[in-house]
This record gives sequence, structure tokens and C-alpha cells, in this order.
Amino acid sequence: METTIGIDKIGFYSPEYYLDLADLAAARQVDPAKYKIGIGQDQMAVLPPDQDIVTMAANAASQILDQADREQIDLLIFATESGIDQSKAAALYLQELLAVNHKARAFEVKEACYGATAGLQIAYDHLAAHPQSQKVLVVGADVARYGLATAGEVTQGAGAIALLITRQPRLLALQQPTAYYSEEIMDFWRPNYRDTALADGKFSTEQYLRFLALTWQDYQAKTNMTLADLTAVLFHIPFTKLGLKGLRQMTADLAASDKDNYFDYFQQATVYNRQVGNLYTGSLYLSLLSLLDQQQLPAGARLGLYSYGSGAVAEFFTALVQPDYQQHLQVAVHQQQLAQRQRLTVAEYEQLFQQTGLTDDQDYQIEPQSPQAKFYFAGQHDQRRIYQRKEPLHS
Ligand code: HMG
Repeated sequence: METTIGIDKIGFYSPEYYLDLADLAAARQVDPAKYKIGIGQDQMAVLPPDQDIVTMAANAASQILDQADREQIDLLIFATESGIDQSKAAALYLQELLAVNHKARAFEVKEACYGATAGLQIAYDHLAAHPQSQKVLVVGADVARYGLATAGEVTQGAGAIALLITRQPRLLALQQPTAYYSEEIMDFWRPNYRDTALADGKFSTEQYLRFLALTWQDYQAKTNMTLADLTAVLFHIPFTKLGLKGLRQMTADLAASDKDNYFDYFQQATVYNRQVGNLYTGSLYLSLLSLLDQQQLPAGARLGLYSYGSGAVAEFFTALVQPDYQQHLQVAVHQQQLAQRQRLTVAEYEQLFQQTGLTDDQDYQIEPQSPQAKFYFAGQHDQRRIYQRKEPLHS
């Protein structure tokens, strides 16, 4: 059998509190259609103080890891742009919480929303280069924060995606070559003195689409493929309208009757993103999970994936859907997680928004308040972050 490398399992966790964007529209005196249709979002996840990137990543990864995985992972990559420490990698806290063996290399990567894709491609290369290596865990966890009553406010969100990368994967086989492009631009950034991002909003959307054109063109030149070779296309989804614009750009030359399937798949691929908002580096993979969870795709279907991280780096790559992949998804877990979230008022959201991102050097304690979470952030002691697991890890 030909050796393939790709995504064997996907885990997902998002905060258990959300704001309905109709409520936000009313509070900000904006037509709700602007958020629902113009931006293409319905709700956004709101981070409570008992969760951060480490706990969200642990909650996502613990859904998918069994004892064999914990023993066999020899590389753990934590992608984030919401780092909790300037020096120590969040990957180390995660390794400990998940009881991943210590003979693993563990580190953090950052390049805005592109980080998890960097991790995924490093994971592929690692397994291809080291026949004795068996499994790599890649997580992407972030909190998208722009500030109250800013233009970016409606595109906030939070959450984590965990990807287990193996040979003979049961969900998706990654394909080579891929096409990538990097260029220093100021479309979105967060200087060290801020806990909210700065964005040149309209410019950022133009750059997202420009980088898509460049990488898609390069991908076609490298592989001789065309859109007809792709069953569906997935996008980094800062908000669904931008992915929709990307798809419109890619399908512009198709006859109307050939476009429908791509747009139908796009709807399925944004069901979760519409409810959660921007996860930054996890957003593309939440869209992938959304498509896999909603849709019965034929084995061998080729998916195009467009990853974009401001600053900016983009990559276009493809992956093949594996036979019987549906048996290896936890659809009910994902749907229940979203269905059981608690809706906040705008006043409650504003209060939570101001509580997170604590920078105080004093000791403090935080009580668990996320019922579905197995892991929580319990506060700070002696300037050390304290993480707790509510129950033992299951095998
Ligand atoms: P804005 O100024 O509020 O939006 O900012 P707008 O006035 O341009 O309106 C947005 C859309 O709503 C427009 O549609 C309006 O026509 C429409 P479009 O022209 O785009 O098709 N609209 C309405 N539709 C229906 N009914 C109505 C109505 N009114 C208006 N009544 C913006 C929007 C996205 C710029 C802002 O929210 C923002 O700055 N967000 C943050 C930046 C961002 O998400 N950029 C995305 C690209 S960069 C990226 O993806 C990377 C990122 O994820 C970070 C990373 O890499 O780490 C952000």
C-alpha cells in the first residue's frame, strides 16, 4: 500500500459562552443584516476567565487522544498568536496536561492565522523524513480580540483545533507539492503593549484575496490541476463573507451550472464558523471540520485548502478524503458542544471582555465556570500560571 501522511483525527473546543450578533447589532445601532449578510456571521464565542489558549487546546486535544497516541507522539506543535508567555512555549503546558510522553519535541509557532498550517506542513515533513516517528500533534488555539465598538468587534471569536497527523490517516491524506507566498505587509498586527489586534480592515481583505490569487495560480502551475480537479475549496474564515468572496474569485470563469456544487459545499463548510467567529489559526481547520461533519463526501474527493495569516503568509494545498472517514469523526460531540453554550447579554459580554487578558503580577484564583471543559485556568500563584484537570484522562 502506498504510504500517505495526513490528518487522522480532529478535535475542537470553543468557549461555552456566546454573543448573538443580532444583540450586538442592536447595541451598536447597526442594521443586523450587515452582520448576518454583509459580514456573514451569526454568533461569536466569548472567552470566560477560566479558559485560555492552553486549556482550550487541552480540551480540544483530549477529545481525540488515547493512551497509544500519548506514547507515540514525538512532536507537539502549538500554533498561536495569543501567547500567554513571551518565552515559554504553550506546548509545554499542553504536553503536561495531556500526559504526552516526554520524548517528544514541543514548541510554539507564530505567524498570525497561518501558524497551524506551518505546523501541519512541518508535521508532514517530519513524518516523511523520519520513518521511526509515528504521530505528531498540531494544535491551533487563539482568542480574536479587536476591542469594544471597533469595526473588527463583529469578527471576534475564540477556540482551538487539534490535529493528529499520522501515516495512513483515516480522515485526509495531504498532497504535495503545495504553493506558498510571503510578503511583509501591515494589514493586521498586535504590538507587545496591546491585548487587542490592530487591523487595516479593508486593506487586509484585499490582501487575503490577492494572496489567494497568487497561491492558486502558483498551485495550478506546479501541479497542472484546475478547479475541475477539486471537489470543494476551504478557506481561512475570519468571517464567512470573506471566504465567499474568495470562492467567487476562484469560480469567476465557470459556467453558472458548474458553480453550484462549490457554493453548496461552502455553506456546509461554514456552519461552525458562523457560530464561533474567528479562531485565527484554527479557522481553516474548523471550516474543514464543519464540511466533514455535515457532508457525505466520496472517498478520494480532493479538497483545496487556502490558509492565510496576516503579515502575511499564504499557502494553497490539497488533501484527499479517505474512505469511511465519517466513522472517525465525533459529530455529536461537536454539535452538542455548540448547542449547550450559554447566550450572554451584551452587558455580560462587555464585562467578560474586560476581565480577560489579566496582566497583574499579584496572586489570584479563578473558579471553573465552563461545564463541558475538562481543563481550566485556575489563576496565578508566584507569577506562575496554574492549570487544573477536572477528571483523570481516559485511555
Ligand atoms: P466594516 O467597515 O464594518 O465593514 O469592516 P463594511 O462597511 O465594509 O461592511 C462590510 C460588508 O457589509 C460590506 O459588504 C457591506 O456592503 C455590507 P462587501 O462590500 O464587503 O460585500 N453591509 C451590509 N450588508 C447587508 N445589509 C446591510 C449592510 N451594511 C453593510 N445593512 C471589516 C469590516 C471586516 C473590515 C472589519 O470587521 C475588520 O476590520 N475586521 C478585522 C480584520 C479582518 O478580519 N480581516 C480579514 C482579512 S485578514 C485575515 O483574514 C487575517 C486575520 O484572521 C488575522 C490573522 O491572520 O491572524 C484577521
